[in-house]
Amino acid sequence: MMKRIAVFTSGGDSPGMNAHIRAVVRYALHKDIEVFGIIGGYNGMIKGELIPLGRRETANIISLGGTILRTSRSMEFMTEEGRAKAAENLKISQIDGVVACGGDGTFRGAHLLWLEHEINIVGTPGTIDNDLFGTDYTIGYDTAINTCAEAIDRIRDTAGSHGRVFIIEVMGRHAGFIAMDVGISCGAEFIAVPETVTDLDILNERISQQGEHKRTIVIVGEGDEMGNASTIAQIMKERYNIDAKVTILGHIQRGGSPTVRDRVLASRLGVAAVDALINGVTDKFVGEINHEIAYTPLEDAYSKKKLLPQYIIDLSELLV
Ligand code: F6P
Repeated sequence: MMKRIAVFTSGGDSPGMNAHIRAVVRYALHKDIEVFGIIGGYNGMIKGELIPLGRRETANIISLGGTILRTSRSMEFMTEEGRAKAAENLKISQIDGVVACGGDGTFRGAHLLWLEHEINIVGTPGTIDNDLFGTDYTIGYDTAINTCAEAIDRIRDTAGSHGRVFIIEVMGRHAGFIAMDVGISCGAEFIAVPETVTDLDILNERISQQGEHKRTIVIVGEGDEMGNASTIAQIMKERYNIDAKVTILGHIQRGGSPTVRDRVLASRLGVAAVDALINGVTDKFVGEINHEIAYTPLEDAYSKKKLLPQYIIDLSELLV
């Protein structure tokens, strides 16, 4: 029986987290469940920083980037003592279930909270990286790729005017989802991602094909095995005497008002997470696969690798 639940955001923030918090709170209230927000992710859970959330606290936040509950990457929660303190605080506050919105580190912690302390907990996908097994899309991904595309379209103007080679680094940690979608959508001449072997001879050939006017857009996913954008630029100079400008898009990818797709996904998964807790689901990740809500064991959500679809890799090669 769920009478009181808590929600928190954890790991890197992502656009749509606020829409998600709003959905959790509003749907829970419809079901006569009280909701508390945990401030600052697992660190706040350890300190017992919980605040009541209602309609008023979640008004006017659906369009906001970041997270009103703040977030952290908690080192203390990685220790048994930290998790014990956190569980104790949840019990003192009579929390019957928890919604944890974040990425793989968040789910690792959530799984341990269930295993060690029997805290009912479900995870939801809050990361721009789209790298979570058990969901087609993560909350924040769509906004992040659109932010990248807008920035790269601007860079393309300058690349065209001056006939320059630009090497642009995007986020994604060990996964190339952002780089691939952004590269295809911006008509990049070359895309380097961790999932494929990066062959700079091919890049050199494509730049040569441009002739005198070398306008070239190269997208590098930050986890690429060849190195980051600066390393690749250095290699291009040393090996082929090609000068390239480097742009690292960085944290502009994480902020900003969420797109409609992210707001809708965040809202749907907020409702689904509350429903899961009401139905006695625990230790599960709540995602969306082929438009349907899907539950995946938390352990799989952080340990199994979500593969970059082959069709998208093929597409990126077919259109250069
Ligand atoms: O997981 C989201 C993400 O933005 C990754 O793409 C990136 O590698 C990392 O977080 C950056 O983390 P931080 O904000 O702690 O520098």
